Amino acid sequence: MIDAQSLHEIQKRRTFAIISHPDAGKTTLTEKFLLYGGAIQTAGSVKGKHSDKHAVSDWMELEKQRGISVSSSVMQFNYNGYCINILDTPGHQDFSEDTYRTLMAADSAVMVIDAAKGIEAQTRKLFKVCAMRGIPIFTFINKLDREARDPLDLLDELEQEFGIRTYPMNWPIGCGVDFRGVYDREKKQILTFDNFHGGRNRLQGIAVDFDDTERLDELIGERLRENLTEQIELLDVADFGFDLDAVRAGKLSPVFFGSALNNFGIEPFLESFLQMTTAPLSHKAGEVEIESGDERFSAFVFKIQANMNKAHRDRIAFMRICSGKFERSKEYFHVQGGKNIKLAQPQQMMAQEREGVEVAYAGDIIGVFDPGIFSIGDTICQPGMKITYEGIPNFTPEHFAYVEQIDSMKRKQFAKGMNQIAQEGAIRIFFEPNSGMERVIVGVVGVLQYDVLKFRMQTEYGVGYIQREIPYDIIRYVSGKDGKEIDPSKLKLSAETKWIQDVRGNDLLLFPGNWAVTWALEHNEDLELLPYGSNA
Ligand code: G4P
Repeated sequence: MIDAQSLHEIQKRRTFAIISHPDAGKTTLTEKFLLYGGAIQTAGSVKGKHSDKHAVSDWMELEKQRGISVSSSVMQFNYNGYCINILDTPGHQDFSEDTYRTLMAADSAVMVIDAAKGIEAQTRKLFKVCAMRGIPIFTFINKLDREARDPLDLLDELEQEFGIRTYPMNWPIGCGVDFRGVYDREKKQILTFDNFHGGRNRLQGIAVDFDDTERLDELIGERLRENLTEQIELLDVADFGFDLDAVRAGKLSPVFFGSALNNFGIEPFLESFLQMTTAPLSHKAGEVEIESGDERFSAFVFKIQANMNKAHRDRIAFMRICSGKFERSKEYFHVQGGKNIKLAQPQQMMAQEREGVEVAYAGDIIGVFDPGIFSIGDTICQPGMKITYEGIPNFTPEHFAYVEQIDSMKRKQFAKGMNQIAQEGAIRIFFEPNSGMERVIVGVVGVLQYDVLKFRMQTEYGVGYIQREIPYDIIRYVSGKDGKEIDPSKLKLSAETKWIQDVRGNDLLLFPGNWAVTWALEHNEDLELLPYGSNA
């Protein structure tokens, strides 16, 4: 086991991702967290969509031009004895595979939901990845100061759609102009919104006795008091008891209501969240499970970001430390490269600033200079440790486009750029059988990745190209039932289905919809279609 001081450092770490659909309030909530931690002094400094201030994660021209966060970033701050790492997931509608990968580095997730809208498309996608990992998910239902949907309805939607149980930790009293605050179910207290001015001072809860209707009417008015009494009765009747183990297993989501913009309900949320979450969890490496408190350093690369500093054309590999303590001066073993290396220019995001790090602990995320040796999913560990962390799944592309080079003089640069960017995992490339490198099919999770690709091909490789999106959204590997060999050129396929190959020459099929998948299976009895990622 590691020394006591390092163990203490590890145990105070909490590493979580914030997920939401754009505009639900993720940035606002993150900013309030940072304000509580004293990491920033003014609201509006995390992201100023309408100002010149740019998010700490803004690193590319493209982002500045569009005022969005293309990349995911991580911010670290201290609060109440905890050291908190927040992993931000891009908030734009066109999110990318990086968003998913970031979730691989988190121990839990905070899901922000707009109270007027409920579950939205991006929440759905991100939730699926969290659920796949079985990490705890905490729900913050935001914007209660605006007109909101019935809170019971919202909970019902979460349970029905996500198949997860919910447990409201507090309950809203009215909404919009009628918003009076929240009722804390555990403490049996009301936090009133009227008296609250968004400051950092802790708000005193007012103890509530539901029989003292006079006092309650004074506080929240007769109509809201009646509603609240009725709803809390309903909740109490349906209550199966709070189950922390179920929360930690990702089966029960504690739900909090509040208003991030008004800083209302944030501190109680943060405190409950910190109490319910655990220190960094152990990680599986094949047959063995590596505890975060193991004295040997180990980490895996979950993201590679190119060109963060235009002047240096560098790549940064982001790694999640799974165990032990990282020390700048030491050499570590890069398992996939089979070599001992020094991790150069290690850095961490401390709220606003990118800082060099001397030491970091399990739970932390560090970025290191990558001279082109790392791939997503790589393991770095103490020499002699001999482990390999389970890789990061290949998330299935949902959009496809032909990308064709226009300048035959730049054939080499085109191929180099496409291959390198694909190797980083920023895009997937496929080929039509027997075609050259002049035209490739690029598959992405979010269409924003096309903009990033175009930008990078132009700025880093000096290559322009023509791009044409093609109407496919399902990709599957070709396989034969009972180990039978399949010759894809002999398959009976609908005219709209396309046979393609990946860089390793594996055969895949692209389908324009589920009906085409069914058609292919019905007309080829030996054909088996495997999900993308299963064979890569
Ligand atoms: P995101 O990162 O999830 O995309 O959301 P963000 O925090 O940027 O919030 C989206 C919009 O919702 C912002 O308004 C923000 O001020 C507002 N908002 C966030 N929390 C609350 C809340 O509790 N109540 C209300 N009423 N609004 C909230 P905007 O006008 O789009 O941008 P801005 O000018 O405020 O930056």
